[in-house]
Amino acid sequence: MNKKLVVAIDGPAGAGKSTVAQLAAKQLGYTYIDTGAMYRAVAWKTLQQHKPVTDELILSVVPDIDVDLRYAGGKTTVTVDGTDVTAAIRTPEVSHIVSQVAALGPVREKMVALQRKMAERGGVLMDGRDIATNVLPNADVKIYLTASVEERAQRRWKEMQEKGYDMTLEELQKDIEARDKADMEREISPLVQAEDATLLDTTGLSIDEVVEKILGMCR
Ligand code: DC
Repeated sequence: MNKKLVVAIDGPAGAGKSTVAQLAAKQLGYTYIDTGAMYRAVAWKTLQQHKPVTDELILSVVPDIDVDLRYAGGKTTVTVDGTDVTAAIRTPEVSHIVSQVAALGPVREKMVALQRKMAERGGVLMDGRDIATNVLPNADVKIYLTASVEERAQRRWKEMQEKGYDMTLEELQKDIEARDKADMEREISPLVQAEDATLLDTTGLSIDEVVEKILGMCR
């Protein structure tokens, strides 16, 4: 594993991408880039305007937004215009509007340009929805990570419980199904498995097992 690889991981919400990608990046000594966090950052800034969320409102925050991701010590810190929003971008309010945000062309253009710049020097593991198909089509390793919708909802529910959010499993499953639909059916860069990506279904697998499989693909 001498060459610094570019690893692309795509998949639907709750497939465990960020958990396993962060662990794999740590083992490889690579930088982890969470592109979903960047769309969440735009959603967060939109909500800060305290106005009804319309496409126009979202687009109005894009030209001046400064989104920065720092990955250190196995953790990602996200800032928007210098404010640390790492926790704030994970609220149900942000999750609720982020698919609308991510469907807009000017938002994607700005984020994709940033993402390509971050991957320029290699040694990166980037996760999202369109990494293998659009952002980094020449990635060395392409993985499509998924799991059953029930298992993905269960995982998110556990995560939200730990953070103190009171949401039912049913609510979360509905939210995930709605996001799958929006992400897979949108016009620009929809979520789809790249032809040359390896499918990795994590249903019933432990985190360690998934990380091992990813490391195996990088060897
Ligand atoms: O992975 P996540 O749940 O944090 O992603 C948040 C949203 O951003 C998700 O609904 C889809 C969108 N997204 C995208 O369109 N393209 C990416 N590369 C990453 C995320």
